[in-house]
Amino acid sequence: MVVLTLNHPEINKEITMCGIIGYAGHRPAVPVIVEGLKRLEYRGYDSAGVAFVQHQGLEVIRAQGKLCELENKLGGCDAFHATTALGHTRWATHGLPVERNAHPHKDGQGRLALVHNGIIENYHPLREMLKNKGREFVSDTDTEVLVQLVSEEWSKDTTLLQAISRALAQVEGTYAMALINLDEPGRIWAARKSSPLLLGMGTGENFVASDIPAFLAYTREVIFLEDNELVELDALSWKVFDVATLKPLNKEVHHISWDLQSAQKGGYRHFMLKEIFEQPQVIANCLAGRMDPKSSCVLLPELDDLPIPEQIQIVACGTSYHAGLWGQHLLESWAKIPVRVEIASEFRYRNPLFRPTDLVLAISQSGETADTLAGMRLAKGEGVPVLGLCNVVGSSVAREADRVIHTQAGPEISVASTKAMCSQLVLLLLLALYWGRQKQTLPRETESQILRGLLGLPGILEAELPRMRGKAQELAQEYSAARSFFYLGRGSSFPLALEGALKLKEISYIHAEGYASGEMKHGPIALIDPEFPTFALAPSDDLLPKVISNLVEVQARNGRIIALAHPGFDLAVDHVWSIPEVYGPLNTFLILPALQLFAYEMAVYLGKDVDQPRNLAKSVTVE
Ligand code: M6R
Repeated sequence: MVVLTLNHPEINKEITMCGIIGYAGHRPAVPVIVEGLKRLEYRGYDSAGVAFVQHQGLEVIRAQGKLCELENKLGGCDAFHATTALGHTRWATHGLPVERNAHPHKDGQGRLALVHNGIIENYHPLREMLKNKGREFVSDTDTEVLVQLVSEEWSKDTTLLQAISRALAQVEGTYAMALINLDEPGRIWAARKSSPLLLGMGTGENFVASDIPAFLAYTREVIFLEDNELVELDALSWKVFDVATLKPLNKEVHHISWDLQSAQKGGYRHFMLKEIFEQPQVIANCLAGRMDPKSSCVLLPELDDLPIPEQIQIVACGTSYHAGLWGQHLLESWAKIPVRVEIASEFRYRNPLFRPTDLVLAISQSGETADTLAGMRLAKGEGVPVLGLCNVVGSSVAREADRVIHTQAGPEISVASTKAMCSQLVLLLLLALYWGRQKQTLPRETESQILRGLLGLPGILEAELPRMRGKAQELAQEYSAARSFFYLGRGSSFPLALEGALKLKEISYIHAEGYASGEMKHGPIALIDPEFPTFALAPSDDLLPKVISNLVEVQARNGRIIALAHPGFDLAVDHVWSIPEVYGPLNTFLILPALQLFAYEMAVYLGKDVDQPRNLAKSVTVE
């Protein structure tokens, strides 16, 4: 069978990473679904749609664009009698984000409606096979193939449950899907393979969704569905089956303790701002229960019987990759463990070499990033243990890693990752302390200074954040006309320079490059002129004299400079942004929010959509 790859030139294939939700209960279902979709919009927002059975008809209402477009459309419809419905919010990279490609999709007879997050890789031969059987298609999507395939199987004198099982057996690729049927208007069927799907159990109402916030207003009782599981539910009951054998499965119910408020803006104008300001609490949460008061050493019981690795390979993407680059400095200097840091999308296709004593450390906020998961699976396939550093409990990284450390940042909604990176850095630092103590490579005095400093950090940051925001606002006005920025740093500030540049790019759409300051003279300095400012990370560490001489070179080319520095910085640059100095690597926890706030205020000043920047989605579940 020919398997069509994602970038096959001959297909206009839809590639989605989307949010899905299904509700069966006692309330008008469409408002519940729309509310749930709002909480899933971070997964994609190119188009949205709902499906429900009402007045003996299967209705599908869809709209191109953000969810408000769907709401406008629903406002003009009679859509409030059904008590069971499905919803979908879509993110597409291929195939136009137009209404005919929006989900839900119906089968040819208009009896089934289906929503889907994932990619049916063999959709083309399946589509041809279905066409030969007389089925017609009205969209360019692989999802329509899936619903038609279920319909085809259902036409062969089976139950719908069996038909779904048989259809999914023919599918190659990934899916989280949910389906409703005109003939059983109160029932939903849903299944997953390599895309997230959860079951939420309420009183007289049940849900399926891609993520917990979608139904957290109604229930805290959750089942994490595994790959190849199929669920059938109505308002009063639910049953999970093995998708191939249709044998019923027993599932563990989890109780979710965080509240919906923590997934909402809490009075801030944007989620990003709220999440930046949550960092003091995030640091405190990451430390809770991690320090032994008697021995004052780090507690990581997740690792207790894991041999100390001889080499670590960190695999991650985006901001999580930058966190890994920063962690490399501490793991090498404190724990004396050689560390390689790899961009997951490169690692997975590079035939990396492993030794049996290696450890792969997969860092991911969402725990669903496709490339990071692929990197992890590659390592596992070679018998290398995988440690996941992950924020989302029950996510694929958390479930598939041999060990997992949860980063305790709480739900991060803004597409731009902020507090999650902060939490990753705390845990990387704790890892370096933990192995440094075990290997006795870290002087006790350094260890206790770090631990003392960490405990004081939330208070210092809490006090400093409002001042930082004021400075960021002032600088944003001053520099808003710039079309390009350099971010320069050395040593452990280099990964932060990369992160500062990424933040500015993704939310303000200003071109920015993070560079190691010492590399400037090897080419990039040619770009410097009065229109191309530099954001310099110049903390008072051993490398400051070197950074200063790099900045003098920038000044000699008439480049404007913002220097993020500690009191006592004495180079006369255009703007000195002075932040309090703390102990050694802990300074990172004050540099990072300054970079985040600068990017945030630039984006706000320029009127950009801060929480949902164009062309992006929160978790990148396709490669
Ligand atoms: O969920 P993950 O940490 O695996 O996500 C990795 C990247 O997609 C993510 O950090 C992305 O770069 C953010 N938009 C950065 O703000």
